[in-house]
Amino acid sequence: MSEPQLTPALIRAALTTVKYPGFSRDIVSFGLVKDITVSEAGAVVIELIIESKNADVPRYIYENVMATVKELPGVKQLDVNIEHHAPKSVKQPGANDDPADWKSSVPGVKHVIAVASGKGGVGKSTVSANLGVALSKLGYKTGLLDLDIYGPSMALMFGTKERPGCSEKEQFLPVEAHGVKLLSMGLMIDEASPVAVRGPLATRYVQQFLRDVEWGGLDFLILDMPPGTGDIQLTIVQTVDLAGAVIVTTPQEVALIDARKAVGLFQRVETPILGLIENMSYFVCPSDGLIYNIFGEGGGEREAQKLGVPLLGRIPLDIQTRSCGDEGHPVALEDPGKSMVAAAFEGVASMLASQLGE
Ligand SMILES: Nc1ncnc2c1ncn2[C@@H]1O[C@H](COP(=O)(O)OP(=O)(O)OP(=O)(O)O)[C@@H](O)[C@H]1O
Ligand SMILES: [Mg+2]
Repeated sequence: MSEPQLTPALIRAALTTVKYPGFSRDIVSFGLVKDITVSEAGAVVIELIIESKNADVPRYIYENVMATVKELPGVKQLDVNIEHHAPKSVKQPGANDDPADWKSSVPGVKHVIAVASGKGGVGKSTVSANLGVALSKLGYKTGLLDLDIYGPSMALMFGTKERPGCSEKEQFLPVEAHGVKLLSMGLMIDEASPVAVRGPLATRYVQQFLRDVEWGGLDFLILDMPPGTGDIQLTIVQTVDLAGAVIVTTPQEVALIDARKAVGLFQRVETPILGLIENMSYFVCPSDGLIYNIFGEGGGEREAQKLGVPLLGRIPLDIQTRSCGDEGHPVALEDPGKSMVAAAFEGVASMLASQLGE
């Protein structure tokens, strides 16, 4: 029997057995493999991109990639090139910068993460709420700022109607629910009254939310972004020093197109993309246990690979996730041993924390 021909696809498949240190995920699905070439003479070149503050990570991956690929039949020569850089650090305003270029960081907050999507309704708010809870369960002081002025949803998702207070310095005081500090337009207005604010005023509200809140010391602040990639979104990314952005998408092409636009928006302002989250990835039928890929299969993973960013998690379409959201009790509060979705969010939270050097 003849050996299978050595191809980049075969090598890529072999690399799915190399795990990212500390995770059960492999380096291919993490999006670290940038390029693989194979010459007719059997010379293999593998290009990897690794973003990590820890120098042991590229060393570990190098050794494991070498060991795995060397064993493949037909490999005569092997080069593994690693482009390693620390995650881009946040630029603080410098004394000589033009004040017009300043991005003020949110006072008292270590890492600000934007959760965005481009397309509406793919689950940004669900992801924001559950990520907030999951980070808090890991012991991080976490806040959540709902920047959807027109369609705020955090009051509902956290089941609170408490009004934010006002501090001595005349700043907003967030409310606390399920271990997360919260601020949302939905906490300031009555459910029945629609927020009829025009563009410029909406921008002002958003800026005030970003600047004038006494968070009281947070490890993470999650920004639940409004849908789209327009002026409001641009204002947000230009007002704050973001540690990075998490892009939510469904596996469907229409959602992926808009996810790409969102990625473009952040890249234009040099904000690192921390990864993609594929929401509504699949549905496990409760009666027969079969998996249905309602919005298609593998879209998030392919897109993450194309963009060279990690796929942080795949969240199934899940009845409990929806009902918990509507009942003000995010599903991430459940025991990860009992809820697949709670476990998935725990994974996303720990991956983000480790990416940001926590
Ligand atoms: N994984 C999931 N399983 C079941 N339902 C979900 C899931 N993710 C989101 N949903 C439901 O889908 C609806 C839309 O989700 P969500 O409000 O989080 O989206 P969004 O992207 O924030 O929307 P918008 O663009 O309007 O802000 C909600 O009713 C939510 O409960
Ligand atoms: Mg939303």
